[in-house]
Amino acid sequence: MLPTPYIKCDYDKVYEPSEDSFLVLDSLEKDISFLNERFQNQLAIVGEIGPGSGIVTTFMMKNGVPSKSTSLYFALDISPWALEATKETAKLNECSEKDSYLEVIQSDLTTSLRKKQVDILVFNPPYVPAEDVPEVPSTREETDQWLDLALLGGKDGMVITQKVIDQLDYILSPKGVAYILFCARNKPEELVAKVMETQPWNVELVEHRKAGWEVLSVYRFSRSNESII
Ligand SMILES: C[S@@+](CC[C@H](N)C(=O)[O-])C[C@H]1O[C@@H](n2cnc3c(N)ncnc32)[C@H](O)[C@@H]1O
Repeated sequence: MLPTPYIKCDYDKVYEPSEDSFLVLDSLEKDISFLNERFQNQLAIVGEIGPGSGIVTTFMMKNGVPSKSTSLYFALDISPWALEATKETAKLNECSEKDSYLEVIQSDLTTSLRKKQVDILVFNPPYVPAEDVPEVPSTREETDQWLDLALLGGKDGMVITQKVIDQLDYILSPKGVAYILFCARNKPEELVAKVMETQPWNVELVEHRKAGWEVLSVYRFSRSNESII
């Protein structure tokens, strides 16, 4: 079993790792052979959108997902607190630049990414259904609002997730894969059926788990026509 990073963050400012975060870690661990094989003997660009505390990014760096010596890592979050926490968590877990390189960037979702560069993308989104996606706070000090942004996903909890799914073709490399977490209220089965019917993607359920009254799942997205890109 791969070790979970040590985390020491102020949870009044960043999302506290919860069942969803741990399901993402378990999904990556379950898929590690698949990832190692898929990206062997190549430099892999591995990143996370919305790292929060940095638990997932640090887990990947620390445990070599896909393979420690040949990966570059990035973490993109809109919250300045999440960026600081991610750097701190990597440092606390001794992910030094000597072993693996991490770039932490303030970014609204995928807007800072270039075309077809990302090999592995992980996203545990704000997935809780809400009337609206909250406004981005105008100052760092509005910590409650930064936390709301980490949770609330607008209609069906899918507004933010859908934006990332719509960008997958643009950002993923030909062999690229994305791991995305959903809750049952996001209606992931409906989404997966629609995506597979209308777009050239394979979408596979990697892990699912009941967490309190919620059912969480992680799906892996990959191109079904990777050989012709
Ligand atoms: C549910 S938390 C996940 C945190 C962490 N990855 C984990 O699994 O514990 C969602 C994260 O997405 C970030 N986020 C929300 N909206 C975003 C946006 N438009 N662009 C980038 N990051 C965003 C939040 O700041 C938060 O860190």
